[in-house]
Amino acid sequence: MQNFSVDKSGFYGEFGGAYIPEILHRCVTELQDAYLRILESESFKKDFDQLLRDYVGRPSPLYWSGYLSGKHGCSIYLKREDLNHTGAHKINNTVGQILVAKRLGKTRIIAETGAGQHGVATATVCALMQMECIVYMGKTDVERQAVNVKKMQMLGATVVPVTSGNMTLKDATNEAIRDWCCNPTDTHYIIGSTVGPHPYPDMVARLQSVISEEIRKQLMEKENRAVPDYLFACVGGGSNAAGTIYHFLNDDAVKIVLAEAGGKGIDSGETAATIQMGSIGIIHGCKTLVMQTEDGQITEPYSISAGLDYPGIGPIHAHLTTTRRAQVVAVNDDEALKAAFELTRYEGIIPALESAHALAALDKITFKPSDIVVLTLSGRGDKDLETYFKQIDAD
Ligand SMILES: Cc1ncc(COP(=O)(O)O)c(C=O)c1O
Repeated sequence: MQNFSVDKSGFYGEFGGAYIPEILHRCVTELQDAYLRILESESFKKDFDQLLRDYVGRPSPLYWSGYLSGKHGCSIYLKREDLNHTGAHKINNTVGQILVAKRLGKTRIIAETGAGQHGVATATVCALMQMECIVYMGKTDVERQAVNVKKMQMLGATVVPVTSGNMTLKDATNEAIRDWCCNPTDTHYIIGSTVGPHPYPDMVARLQSVISEEIRKQLMEKENRAVPDYLFACVGGGSNAAGTIYHFLNDDAVKIVLAEAGGKGIDSGETAATIQMGSIGIIHGCKTLVMQTEDGQITEPYSISAGLDYPGIGPIHAHLTTTRRAQVVAVNDDEALKAAFELTRYEGIIPALESAHALAALDKITFKPSDIVVLTLSGRGDKDLETYFKQIDAD
């Protein structure tokens, strides 16, 4: 059996590690030394479980979709992260990290955000804990996710629009790291996905692993078996996918399908299909697959979905796909839009554009009637309504 856990230096196979500037060495080492002790302490577990239950609204339901099951000729369940407080899986991680930050004595929180979901989730827990919150967001995303920007401001956060690069998630992350370098002592950086230097990919995966823990229990109740035949999730940086697969990684019978953003097509030059188009490089402190030119310049990613247009990928996913434990499919903008409208019309659920990529990936696999499939619906579509309305007007 292969080992998919992180090693002591933060590597999954050849991917991961902590490639950071000298100025961050002390605070990253502090976090590396403390995170497992904190996450495994009884006091953390008690506070985390209580907030996940009473504040986030967990467990999130595992919903059998009659429409999708009928369409694909098997049994398909949706793990309803869209029903969480603030509308996506991102809150699981921010609740956990704010508890870590408090235990480390930090007083100031910074975050990056693409779709605004992680920014809202961070601003929310900062309001809850009355901590200062600064969120970096690319100007392009500020414009396409306007409601989330207003929400963050209402929650008391300062939203800083970033105007470098193509003004999206990668550029916001660069600025957040710059801020962290200037304020390494009092500031905790709440990274929103399984990316960044060790221990972030492992810490975020552990905090999101509540998703797979619940799937096992809920599937046992509904199907009298804990293990599905397939797990589906979309991947931006990879946190909802990591949470979905975490407690199934050593069950070889479970097939893992990851949906990345094809944008306008993987050969179009306008894509965010990092796993298929990337090569080994270093981005935001982590060795992973990166979309880059031959001389190592990061290629600007593109996707209709603000949460998926990142030119890197979590090191765990780079490892899972290069070792073929997970299969990756690219889903283009138009396929994701079609899947979003279908779920809305035939199931009464408006999904986030990111989650719609996972839904569209179902069309790329042939199932047996006995197959049990669990797909994580990572978020709700409220933040994407403008994009959906534009599509309706264009049709
Ligand atoms: C609803 C939703 N799903 C998925 C993602 C992608 O992130 P990750 O790959 O970390 O789950 C985002 C990112 O903002 C999101 O908002």
